[in-house]
Amino acid sequence: MKTLAAVATSKGEPLEMRELTLDETRSDEVRVKLVATGVCHTDAIARDQIYPIPLPIVLGHEGAGVVEAVGDGVTSVEVGDHVVLTFPSCGVCSSCVSAHPAYCVDFGALAMGGARPDGSTGFEAEDGSDVSSHFFGQSSFATVTNAYERSVVKISKDVPLEIMGPLGCGVQTGAGAVLNVLKPEAGSSIAIFGTGAVGMSALLAAVIANCTTIIAVDIVDSRLKRAKELGATHTINSKDEDAVERVREITGGGANYAADTTGNAGVFTQMTKALGIMGHGALVGAAAPGTESPFDIGNLLLTGLKISMVIEGDSVPQTFIPKLISLYEAGLFPFDKLVKKYEFSEINTAFADSESGDTLKPVVVF
Ligand SMILES: NC(=O)c1ccc[n+]([C@@H]2O[C@H](COP(=O)([O-])OP(=O)(O)OC[C@H]3O[C@@H](n4cnc5c(N)ncnc54)[C@H](O)[C@@H]3O)[C@@H](O)[C@H]2O)c1
Ligand SMILES: [Zn+2]
Ligand SMILES: [Zn+2]
Repeated sequence: MKTLAAVATSKGEPLEMRELTLDETRSDEVRVKLVATGVCHTDAIARDQIYPIPLPIVLGHEGAGVVEAVGDGVTSVEVGDHVVLTFPSCGVCSSCVSAHPAYCVDFGALAMGGARPDGSTGFEAEDGSDVSSHFFGQSSFATVTNAYERSVVKISKDVPLEIMGPLGCGVQTGAGAVLNVLKPEAGSSIAIFGTGAVGMSALLAAVIANCTTIIAVDIVDSRLKRAKELGATHTINSKDEDAVERVREITGGGANYAADTTGNAGVFTQMTKALGIMGHGALVGAAAPGTESPFDIGNLLLTGLKISMVIEGDSVPQTFIPKLISLYEAGLFPFDKLVKKYEFSEINTAFADSESGDTLKPVVVF
């Protein structure tokens, strides 16, 4: 069948709209008619080949849509279900069976290999050549796609499907880093470096966790202003002020918890220095493979601090996404305030507005 897709064709270039052919839905796949898809910074990293992903490819990994067909092995969803698309995992490795699918041993190949494990791709161009597919198990920048069943999460029909896609990556990543990994206790302090969609989702989660000192650090004033509106108790523009000094001052010696959502090596170092005794920090931002960041093993040994590397909020999407939706319905997790909608034809503008800091979470509506 035909699908209209936004295709990444060459490094750093805008996506191109192309009509492609979508192949048969395999036994472990679900055919989804997309209603909308979020745009995540990781899509930009892939387009720009910071992660070497086989081009041309249909990117997109925050899809939301309606199930149109299911493979004969699929049991968790049926035609007509509303679904959010999320990251893939194998389901059988030790990480998957111990409820940590984000650390699936096959995560890299399944999310970024550009093809199914058997080497086939889901899309074909007009000239018959293959177009890479299954980005994060879904390739959601298309009007119809085949997603792995494990990348599909059934959600309630009572919530606006159009804005649910970002729960599949950016939002669950930030919220999960706080609620599933850092688990701050009520009354504790947290410093969040980077206030994009991931950092803001971490911030909303810190509010849910009753952190009483929530410090947002960024270099864009308009984002810091939004952070304040969403619950930050303090903001720091680290272009104007020494973020480490300020966090230590505000918290009286260092934050109990911190998250770095920038992917910047220097910011990671700042985060380690901004933590207090027995603090716990999470690295969430994605840097190019090979990026190293200095860590003061002489001084920091004495602090007992802990650093976690966190993928996708270490969540089990099939349970965590419905929980985030319950919190949203209860008015406790207003992630909709991060969203700005775009037409599918405006997808490159959506990327540009996210990069410039104008939009926190672009959602492209089909
Ligand atoms: N670990 C994961 O599983 C996972 C999942 C999704 C996204 N990511 C990554 O998380 C990061 C954040 O994603 P996003 O969608 O929120 O991106 P974003 O670009 O919207 O947000 C990044 C923020 O960091 C700020 N920033 C950049 N350099 C800074 C500096 N030197 N000091 C302070 N702030 C700085 C930017 O101004 C921006 O507000 C990206 O690297 C993305 O690839 C990781
Ligand atoms: Zn696995
Ligand atoms: Zn993402």
